[in-house]
Amino acid sequence: MILAIETSCDDTCAAVVEPDGRRALSNVVHTQTEHARYGGVVPEIASRAHLERLDGVVQKSLSDAGVSLDEMSRVAVTMRPGLIGALLVGVAAAKGLAYARRLPLVPVNHLEGHVAAAYLSEPGLEPPFVALIASGGHTALYYVNRDRRMRLLGETLDDAAGEALDKGARMLGLGFPGGPAISRAAHDGDRDRFDFPVGLKSKDNLDFSFSGLKTSLLYKLKAMDEEQLYEALPHLAAGYEAAVVEALSRKLLRAVDLHDAPAVVVAGGVAANTLLRRTLEERCERTGTRLVVPPPELCTDNAAMIGAAAADSPSVPYPEYLSLNARSV
Ligand code: KG4
Ligand code: ZN
Repeated sequence: MILAIETSCDDTCAAVVEPDGRRALSNVVHTQTEHARYGGVVPEIASRAHLERLDGVVQKSLSDAGVSLDEMSRVAVTMRPGLIGALLVGVAAAKGLAYARRLPLVPVNHLEGHVAAAYLSEPGLEPPFVALIASGGHTALYYVNRDRRMRLLGETLDDAAGEALDKGARMLGLGFPGGPAISRAAHDGDRDRFDFPVGLKSKDNLDFSFSGLKTSLLYKLKAMDEEQLYEALPHLAAGYEAAVVEALSRKLLRAVDLHDAPAVVVAGGVAANTLLRRTLEERCERTGTRLVVPPPELCTDNAAMIGAAAADSPSVPYPEYLSLNARSV
């Protein structure tokens, strides 16, 4: 079995995954609540909180799975990308556990982990497929070939989709995280009341950009007094959310078309968005494309997905991995 650890951002995570990476026996996530009052993740606080929590989280992942460390054949850990201090805590812990048991270590790319969440939610899924990863830190499109090799097709040139939602929510005076807050505010809104730009809409590439959308919201807000804002809030939220969803869906379907992919996978925190799910369900049904969106607990950061990705990744033998280093990018 694989013991997996993930500490790249503000969730302290450990899981036990079966060797083929298709089933998690446990998946423990401790979400740090310390950041809410700052309206965003504070890296130094995240590292310290990981340090305090990780041992307990690893213990719980073993006891939830009903296994002991002796039954592990590999230790997997997120090496990159992420907050460097946060990553270092997980990497040091994984090295220590693996070294003590003379086990190999599997370094995992966090984004490949998000994609691999699809294998846990649909164990029968086989590539090829196109994957969209949209979270607070990343927005990227991948093509996964028959050998499960991942190729980057496009990514955001500025903010991540979740980050754009978080920043928009802050401008609108809504809570954090911004994605769910904007969705709630948008509930009775008319998404066509205001005109928001869809980033790189007509560009013939598979990249994303959300800076124009943010600026557009800023200018609209500048032109309003408080009373106007109160009346416009649901419509602004609805228009802003719809522009993010349109940018994501449009590029994802363009990638499907270009690569003639029979299936798509969507993961990352933004995959929890109802409008995005509904839009993709409709469009994929029209094109006969299989749509795989893992359940929310596998879409947001977790260690089970890291274990799933490790099943297809080369492991580094004992004790060579002691010289490996975490990387922020
Ligand atoms: O994957 P995730 O939990 O953490 C990383 O960033 O790695 O993603 C968090 C992001 C936040 O920006 C949050 O606003 C967004 O996902 N998010 C949502 C929803 N739930 C979380 N965005 C839109 N709709 C949601 N329901
Ligand atoms: Zn993530």
